[in-house]
Amino acid sequence: MERFDYRRMSFYQIWIRSFADGNGDGIGDLYGVYDKLDYIASLGVDGIWFSPIYPSPNADYGYDISDYRNIHPDYGTLEQFRKVLDRAHALGLRVIMDLVINHTSDEHPWFLESRKSRTGPYSDYYIWRDPKWKGESRLPPNNWYSQFEGLAWEYCPEREQYYLHVFAKKQPDLNMDNPKVREEVKGIMRFWLDMGVDGFREDVITFISKHPQLPDGLPFVPAINGMPFYKDGPNLMAYLREFRAVAREYGAVQIGEAPMTPLKTAMTYLTGEDRVLDMMIQFDTMMADCFMTEYIHLPFSLPKLKRAFSKWQLALSGKGWNALYLENHDHPRVISRYGSEEYWRESGTMLAAAYLFQQGTPFIYQGQEIGMTNIRLGSIEEYQDVATINTYHSFRRHQSEEKRLRHVHIASRDSARTPVQWDDSEYAGFSSVKPWFAVNPNYREINVSREEGDEQSILNFYRRCLRLRKGSETLLWGDYREYFPLHRGIYLYERSYRGERILVVCSFSKKEQDWQLPKGYAWEGSQVLLCNYPGEPKPGKLRPYETQVLRW
Ligand code: GLC
Ligand code: CA
Repeated sequence: MERFDYRRMSFYQIWIRSFADGNGDGIGDLYGVYDKLDYIASLGVDGIWFSPIYPSPNADYGYDISDYRNIHPDYGTLEQFRKVLDRAHALGLRVIMDLVINHTSDEHPWFLESRKSRTGPYSDYYIWRDPKWKGESRLPPNNWYSQFEGLAWEYCPEREQYYLHVFAKKQPDLNMDNPKVREEVKGIMRFWLDMGVDGFREDVITFISKHPQLPDGLPFVPAINGMPFYKDGPNLMAYLREFRAVAREYGAVQIGEAPMTPLKTAMTYLTGEDRVLDMMIQFDTMMADCFMTEYIHLPFSLPKLKRAFSKWQLALSGKGWNALYLENHDHPRVISRYGSEEYWRESGTMLAAAYLFQQGTPFIYQGQEIGMTNIRLGSIEEYQDVATINTYHSFRRHQSEEKRLRHVHIASRDSARTPVQWDDSEYAGFSSVKPWFAVNPNYREINVSREEGDEQSILNFYRRCLRLRKGSETLLWGDYREYFPLHRGIYLYERSYRGERILVVCSFSKKEQDWQLPKGYAWEGSQVLLCNYPGEPKPGKLRPYETQVLRW
């Protein structure tokens, strides 16, 4: 049973701690969210994805959960959540929650019990292994590194065993091979679905089935050397089917996060009547200026970005459905990466058109709609994110402090986690007191209130794009085709449906450029649906970071 058609929708992602502080303690919360629901609805989106708002010691800001059925006291109460949910529904906004079940917090009661002994009722909830001994020295069970914090194993003297953590030490991995754990997951799903939420974004869901032997990974690949043995594992499909059955009962939508999952594997999750996910958050489109992670920075390559876009568009066409995004809480701000801070308004609007008109369901991350950019803090001590801080320190043998900080400026996901800039008053209107994390000093120029009053603003351009998309059968359902894929400065794609054709042309260049219509097109009879410069665009010319949407 499907309650709604997620393919027509677009979502707004809230990372609550930095969204809006409603009770004046410097931390974003559900009171702030409640006050901003009208604003969110005014964008023209149809749903909200909440990054985790559950109780959490915040080792990974909510992605380390200590209670799956409650709200973090910093953010409010279950009662306040119900209010937000009801009001969102009344405004026509669906609400999806983050389902983080690859791991819990080490302060979750299950783990507190599990670590006590090898025999208790929770002893098998996590992935415990005996040490390896080399003479007198005790070694971890294998050579895997964690993605966030040193080796992937932590020793527990009570059990004389190690537990696995693919992420931070405070994020022990659950043992999904234990049927009791899977029942817990289903119970959590039902808890929120019974309350009325509309689905889940499923955190690193492709990591939940580990290779039974946990073999050694390559010794010289840090951070991800264990990945081949915990990603897209042997029982993943079976487990996802179990969770799917619960979601189906409620007509809920499921969006799985899948770092590094290749397209071919993704097709097995996303296609066919018995598909286990409705959409997937793939990472290919996030790698046009880096290799594997933003910390291995490369110059931005438009052909690489276009290849990633087109690959997913073509593969899923008629078979599945894409989740479209350029930002979330895990990546630095896209204008600072793929656009230009110098041509801030132009590139911010162009990037919107570059992805919102592809086939799929767009996700817009808080602050993206006003063109927030990366923050550059003066020292590592000012950063908050566990991954940022540990990556910085792990390069200490090879790189100067200055160089490492420069990398943080380019790569840190903390750039996506600065308080949302609502107006130009102190603390950017986010809070009445000093916020928990630094406000980007550019808030006097970049803020919601200023952009509300400007017809040409990034904010109002997002609104126009979303309205156009929703009102156009061609943009919703049309076939996708890319032209001139090797062009280094222009991205040109077509959507076509029942005789109507729409071309979206995007300049990724600071220079003026000439461009040609593809074969079979003529300027005559074209209609300009949208342009990010005022006035009529000139046929065949693109100003810096100009975008045009044209219809035949
Ligand atoms: C996902 C989340 C990220 C988190 C990680 C571990 O990638 O999006 O924020 O740190 O999983 O839960
Ligand atoms: Ca607060």
